[in-house]
Amino acid sequence: MTQVKSSIARRRFDAVIVGAGGAGMRAALQLSEAGMAVAVLSKVFPTRSHTVAAQGGIGASLGNMSEDNWYWHMFDTVKGSDYLGDQDAIEFMCREAPHVVYELEHFGMPFDRNSDGTIYQRPFGGHSANFGEKPVARACAAADRTGHALLHTLYQRNLRARTQFFVEWMALDLIRDAEGDVVGVVALEMETGEPMILEAKATLLATGGAGRIWAASTNAFINTGDGMGLAARAGLPLEDMEFWQFHPTGVAGAGVLITEGVRGEGGILLNANGERFMERYAPTLKDLAPRDFVSRSMDQEIKEGRGCGPHKDHVLLKLDHLGADTILKRLPSIREIAMKFANVDPIREPIPVVPTIHYQMGGIPTNFHGQVVVPKDGNPSSPVGGLYAIGECACVSVHGANRLGTNSLLDLVVFGRSAGNAIVKEHLGTREHKPLPTDAADPTLARLAALDARTGGEKTQSVADDIRRAMQAHCGVFRTDQMLTEGVDVIAGLAERAARVSIDDKSKVFNTARVEALELDNLVVTARATITSAQARTESRGAHARDDYVERDDVNWMKHTLWYSEGNRLDYKPVVTKPLTVETFKPKKRTF
Ligand code: FUM
Repeated sequence: MTQVKSSIARRRFDAVIVGAGGAGMRAALQLSEAGMAVAVLSKVFPTRSHTVAAQGGIGASLGNMSEDNWYWHMFDTVKGSDYLGDQDAIEFMCREAPHVVYELEHFGMPFDRNSDGTIYQRPFGGHSANFGEKPVARACAAADRTGHALLHTLYQRNLRARTQFFVEWMALDLIRDAEGDVVGVVALEMETGEPMILEAKATLLATGGAGRIWAASTNAFINTGDGMGLAARAGLPLEDMEFWQFHPTGVAGAGVLITEGVRGEGGILLNANGERFMERYAPTLKDLAPRDFVSRSMDQEIKEGRGCGPHKDHVLLKLDHLGADTILKRLPSIREIAMKFANVDPIREPIPVVPTIHYQMGGIPTNFHGQVVVPKDGNPSSPVGGLYAIGECACVSVHGANRLGTNSLLDLVVFGRSAGNAIVKEHLGTREHKPLPTDAADPTLARLAALDARTGGEKTQSVADDIRRAMQAHCGVFRTDQMLTEGVDVIAGLAERAARVSIDDKSKVFNTARVEALELDNLVVTARATITSAQARTESRGAHARDDYVERDDVNWMKHTLWYSEGNRLDYKPVVTKPLTVETFKPKKRTF
């Protein structure tokens, strides 16, 4: 064992997984069942990870309700991504989908059932039969609590497989050796504030997204972009961070998610005139057009004065016509959310909704084996030894510029499983760990010491709130050069303020203030990556809508953005347009 200069506790595992959501737990299961020693670190109890909030379903072309196949699913995903998704990874995901869903069923996941015993499926935005001809029911659902059912199923399977969980632990930094390989992480036990080195042959990031860089968000408070922070501090780029999805139906004023499954069951959006306005924007798929399309249409209605309520600032989601039985059976949590957060009972009244930040399409660049890949020696995608990333913190890229609903849960389990398989293949037979660098923990310990030493600085949450306000004001549904250029400067100023926050003595006793200050570093990384990448992309594609560049520009922008923290600089790499076995879907104008 190499000596590390600083005296700090140290443990060894075959693999360390950061994050216990659907992706982390699916990968952990694969590793534990193969006999590897696995540590899973989580800031919260595993079943409270943000996957628990996923509502409407997991996409797979089972064809239980009507004819369907993986190739149609692939077409919808490529078109939904506005042709920025990598078609090799998309083919892989859509082909694997039925297999991983049946596997979940056999793990005991309590899906809703049809009368013949098959898994119940509902329509969802952007999913179609026969290449856009008509909506198809592809979302495999457990009522409106699909993420909850999935997370509990995977947790129980992991307990059975003896996966070791480190609950209320936060990973702070990756450890890279002189060759650039990742050999573990430095993490903090949140209760005691004690750091520890966890050495690993494979380190897998599954930390979820960073939806908390926005003021109005469907995301949990834990979604502070920790994986992006870890990667950026280790010198790795972040891909396509300009693409953030606004979910059309967040409860107005509260941000809480109202599943697209409501529209899948037959719910419709109305403007102040009582008009079903999506018929004008998307004559075929109507309310079930992809999310970028529906969110922009809603924003347009509001801008043109057809918003509802005293401030004309939202639209209405009407579902009373579905009947009490359907609402109580298929959408019980939605009724509860509407009553608690909007003070309406959807059995009788519509729910006030607005587009709300929901999902980041970008993240840490990976291939479809979950290996983190970076440009090196003229190759756009060389693996970083020992490092993997999956789920929302990763960019495979299967979602491109806009994700289809239900493809997020699918992404978690498909790439959780495939990263698990890749790690088993690569590392199961390796007996030795690579030596740790002697200064493995020094940068982290210096960061912690500097934070503890600062006094009289600003409070973490006042800087975090200003980041959220700035992102909302400068990087919303519609963007312009002026908004974004100003935003880049505002976020740079906030990054300087973030470096000066201090935590007072009283809050040091309970480590929450220390943890929040460490999370702020990750919020800053994600916000800078997002606004810098958005300012540079002078086209409209998927969720990135520019008022000053309204068209998609396939000549200049059919490429992925790579943002590097050092120097706040950008690079680009090509989109993979060649699928694994089928013909390329060539870019076309998106109509629905
Ligand atoms: O609308 C929803 O239930 C969300 C699903 C998703 O983001 O995939």
